[in-house]
Amino acid sequence: MKIDVLTIFPEYFDSIFEFGIIRRAKLAEIVEINVHDIREYATDKHKMVDDRPFGGGDGMVLKVEPLFAAIENLTGTSDRDAYPAGTRVVLLTPQGKPLKQADAQNYADDAKHIVMICGRYEGVDERVTEALVTDEISIGDYVLSGGEPAAAVFVDTLVRLLPGALGSDTSAENDSFSDGLLDCPHYTRPAEFRGMKVPEVLLNGNHAEIEKWRHEKALEKTRSVRKDLLIGENGDM
Ligand code: ADE
Repeated sequence: MKIDVLTIFPEYFDSIFEFGIIRRAKLAEIVEINVHDIREYATDKHKMVDDRPFGGGDGMVLKVEPLFAAIENLTGTSDRDAYPAGTRVVLLTPQGKPLKQADAQNYADDAKHIVMICGRYEGVDERVTEALVTDEISIGDYVLSGGEPAAAVFVDTLVRLLPGALGSDTSAENDSFSDGLLDCPHYTRPAEFRGMKVPEVLLNGNHAEIEKWRHEKALEKTRSVRKDLLIGENGDM
């Protein structure tokens, strides 16, 4: 998969993709990640990337021309319907669709090239969204000062789902959310620390019992903090 991140703060990403699974996936050429400074695509002599909103109001809006030039350069076209197959242009914005694990899995399965636009200030000129953006994504119901942390979260979520990115092929299947539940608790050595003991069932090597315990604990946790995950589309538990 190829990921291009468009931002006015490229330095934000200087080290964020240089650790752990993402770094390994880059080295193994499972993913290629490029960060681009939107300013490099500014056309005027002051290299302006943002401007005051028409109609008045606070904040600044990311300008249309540099984003068109950047996306044209990265996708080969400024016609959303003419993007090569597997190309998605994603705007990170609190107005977007809340990102779910199942969505991330769909991108990991189907997308070959993802261009991420990190919104800033009051937002992005709507003509960019209308003409070029294929998906608007929010990482949660809160407002960040820009899309950069959201893009970092989205990249991380995606990359760990790419085939070969995790050490063991089954690790992602047991993650929170992949089976609709939060993850169960985990322990490692020592078996006892300051009088706190690891549950006996995990020490006895009975895999059927361990699986049963894990499922019960996952259900318990989900029921206690994320009841909404247990409610089906028709409101059933
Ligand atoms: N930009 C600002 N807030 C955001 C959010 N919650 N998700 C994605 N992008 C954002």
